Amino acid sequence: MLELNNVEVLYSDVILAVKGISAKVPDASCVTLLGANGAGKSTTLKAISNLIKTEDGRVSAGRIDFGGQAITGHEPSGIVRQGIVHVMEGRKVLRHMSVEQNLVVGGHMSRTGDAKQRLDEVYGRISRLAALRHRTAGYLSGGEQQLLVIGRALMARPKLVMIDEPSLGLAPLMVDEVYGLLASLKASGLTLLIVEQNTRVALELADYGYVMESGRVVLEGPADDLKNNEDVREFYLGLTLEGERKSYRDMKHYRRRKRWLG
Ligand SMILES: Nc1ncnc2c1ncn2[C@@H]1O[C@H](COP(=O)(O)OP(=O)(O)OP(=O)(O)O)[C@@H](O)[C@H]1O
Ligand SMILES: [Mg+2]
Repeated sequence: MLELNNVEVLYSDVILAVKGISAKVPDASCVTLLGANGAGKSTTLKAISNLIKTEDGRVSAGRIDFGGQAITGHEPSGIVRQGIVHVMEGRKVLRHMSVEQNLVVGGHMSRTGDAKQRLDEVYGRISRLAALRHRTAGYLSGGEQQLLVIGRALMARPKLVMIDEPSLGLAPLMVDEVYGLLASLKASGLTLLIVEQNTRVALELADYGYVMESGRVVLEGPADDLKNNEDVREFYLGLTLEGERKSYRDMKHYRRRKRWLG
């Protein structure tokens, strides 16, 4: 279980981006962190992996526990060895390297097993990557790159994978493929923490969700409850009470007007 207890995150000692968030990710579950731009979702993930460090950020209050042990502020490499891997926003592949080289690089911090064995495991789980193994990563489609960065995370044999906006900018068919993979990882017992703006797909897969706004959790609950919550339906799913989709223009107007914290 990953547990956040009243976690605050500061950038550059002055910008309070996360203002006391508490959340739980039970083993073998899928939890999603939702919210609009700037809500603090990515910052929360970076606080857990402590990659926030590379952006002059730090956890200024609260604590983060994994498997009953405090990991707050630990070295990022140590957190990977504990079993948490963070797939960052933006599909950061090594563009000039092959798919396989990208995977091998991802495996260097692995907790166990030799690289060849782990490569075979990843190819077994993501067969599309096996077919692409000699291709240059920079020329892959966005969806293929997303599969690659997930594969690279798996090379570390994690217990928990955190993924930031896996569906961003992907065509619907590719979103289905990526989420199909995530569903199979979940079925195999991997724990997932997914940040999404694509509320609909995230709530389909997740067991539980948190909605963030301005650095705070403003709503949380089982995914099915959130799907049926009126605010979520209107604000994030763009549905009226009758289940009709609102026009984009209405939604834009609505988004500007509506604030979770009043
Ligand atoms: N490196 C940084 N230095 C200073 N402030 C930052 C930094 N990164 C993010 N912030 C600020 O922290 C707040 C939360 O940003 P964050 O990236 O966590 O939001 P988000 O929910 O992931 O948004 P998005 O959906 O747009 O990715 C924002 O106000 C943002 O401007
Ligand atoms: Mg983000």
